[in-house]
Amino acid sequence: MIVYLNGEFLPLEEARVPVLDRGFIFGDGVYEVIPVYNGEIFKLAEHLQRLENSLNSIKLANPLIIKEWTEIFNTLVSRNNGGDCSIYLQITRGVAKRDHQFPEVVTPTIFVMSNPLNRVAVPAPIKAITCEDIRWKRCDIKSIALLPNILQRQAAVEAGATEAILIRDGFVTEGAASNVFIVENGVVITPPKNNFILPGITRDLVLEIMPSAKEENISEAQLRSADEIWVTSSTREILPVINLDNKPVGTGEVGAVWSQVLELYKNL
Ligand code: PDD
Repeated sequence: MIVYLNGEFLPLEEARVPVLDRGFIFGDGVYEVIPVYNGEIFKLAEHLQRLENSLNSIKLANPLIIKEWTEIFNTLVSRNNGGDCSIYLQITRGVAKRDHQFPEVVTPTIFVMSNPLNRVAVPAPIKAITCEDIRWKRCDIKSIALLPNILQRQAAVEAGATEAILIRDGFVTEGAASNVFIVENGVVITPPKNNFILPGITRDLVLEIMPSAKEENISEAQLRSADEIWVTSSTREILPVINLDNKPVGTGEVGAVWSQVLELYKNL
């Protein structure tokens, strides 16, 4: 696998970052995950805009312009045989003596890799658990510091599930690595964008293809009595959740509205 690190394309095994990188020491960095279908980067402008927002929030200037990012992504995709894949990019504040405050002079570290996406025509439904949302108040930043998300996802896996749905003060925020939708009496609902959720690009796409969907708070009780639950992300697209905390969601089968949204998404 060929990856990009600080201006160079090289084999993954040869890519090295100094131990004083602030990403390693502090988790001081941001990232993006961008899907590529058939060698074509999907929703690039939206992902680069979100990257810009994350960088602004942590007071780090974007080290590259759109044209440079696009060239790196296209080179990586073609050097890794194109097809369906996801691009992972991360920018950290760079290498400096360990000190919490920003270093005065520092060069950001830029790392990009691509991973194959194993897409299937009809994704298998999943089980989920609920977890308390123990994260901070800036979940809108796509920060590489993901310890709470890791603990929540691991709790799901240990319970025989695939995703954790997070609850903050009695309301659904999002998944450990996804956004959440419910269907209630035929109405599609997802929590509104705010500092407690990542503004998902897949979430925006679902709202675009289902204009009747609502952006409203979802209480824990609404989640538990929903007819359908879906989780969305760039790597997993739109997955139906048929079991929540070991209880069936709705009929316990894949829902009719999900089948509809999947078809609309594929047409994009
Ligand atoms: N994560 N919320 C969280 C906390 C996420 O980590 C993600 C995606 C999403 C969905 O966003 P999008 O539709 O733009 O992928 C929501 C990526 C895939 C990851 O960390 O691997």
